[in-house]
Amino acid sequence: MQSINSMELVSANNFSLEQLTHAYNQTRIDYVVPMPMNVSRLREYARIYDIDMGCSWIAKNGDVLYGLGMLGVRPNRAWITRLGVLPNGRRKGTGRCIMEALINTAVQQNLNSVWLEVIKGNAPAHKLFSKLGFVETRDLIVARRPPQTNSDIGFGENILQVTTLDHEDALILLSHRKSRPNWLNETESFHNVNNLSGLLIELKNGGRGWVTYHAGLLQLTRIMVEVISGDPVEVTTALLNVLHDRHKRQDAITENLLDDAIWTGFQKAGYFESFRRIEMINEL
Ligand SMILES: CC(C)(COP(=O)(O)OP(=O)(O)OC[C@H]1O[C@@H](n2cnc3c(N)ncnc32)[C@H](O)[C@@H]1OP(=O)(O)O)[C@@H](O)C(=O)NCCC(=O)NCCS
Repeated sequence: MQSINSMELVSANNFSLEQLTHAYNQTRIDYVVPMPMNVSRLREYARIYDIDMGCSWIAKNGDVLYGLGMLGVRPNRAWITRLGVLPNGRRKGTGRCIMEALINTAVQQNLNSVWLEVIKGNAPAHKLFSKLGFVETRDLIVARRPPQTNSDIGFGENILQVTTLDHEDALILLSHRKSRPNWLNETESFHNVNNLSGLLIELKNGGRGWVTYHAGLLQLTRIMVEVISGDPVEVTTALLNVLHDRHKRQDAITENLLDDAIWTGFQKAGYFESFRRIEMINEL
């Protein structure tokens, strides 16, 4: 336990998931992008993203939980998430104290770096992170595509072959990606997800690529594309057109895409940008 004036910092594993969920939601009631949690979503979130509640911190004053911040821990690196302070408790140093506790915890664990993301336009959080030594690495795009049940997607003439992939195939492909994924999309995250699916396509002009995803009843999530050969825009668009032809009724969401040719392919397949995050790193 650490103390700052009348405020105490207590490790998050002293609280129930119900208490943590309530505290998180209270700190986010005025958040730029509404993302309310419930207990089962927080449990899943913590499991998939390797959140260590013993390394995460709650700021409390008596019975009131004023703020919180969680630490994901993977080999050599940590990730800060769910940071928030109650609106009426802000600008008193609590956010900074939670952040320092999280960073110190990562140092004590002998980790080399701490990552985080901040939504573009969240100036208070960005300023706090910059003051603490975090530097920007890249923009990440969160995008959606509504279902288009009535439309004829119109593809096919340029496709030579489509191969359906199972969960294990998807994990193998994901573990051999060329570019560095963000924490949410790291292979460790996908190992914690059930029932991934995938498609590998080959175009007549030699273009090849794959898409992996999780198909829920109403939503496709965790959509990842990699282009092996050919024009990245063309191959991505073809992959996504095949995917959405097979899943006409589902809404689709993809998180933390890079702003590159693959994103152009996503846009051509009907995706639009919901918001952007800025990825930041603090090398310890
Ligand atoms: C971001 C947040 C956690 C900061 O918590 P806080 O307790 O108010 O932060 P602190 O009082 O420790 O502020 C530390 C520094 O951050 C910066 N900062 C914090 N709030 C700021 C604001 N509204 N405007 C400009 N700078 C701000 C300042 O540099 C501040 O230092 P200063 O007070 O000496 O000027 C809080 O605003 C919050 O909960 N926001 C909603 C949830 C959120 O955005 N979480 C982060 C998601 S990535």
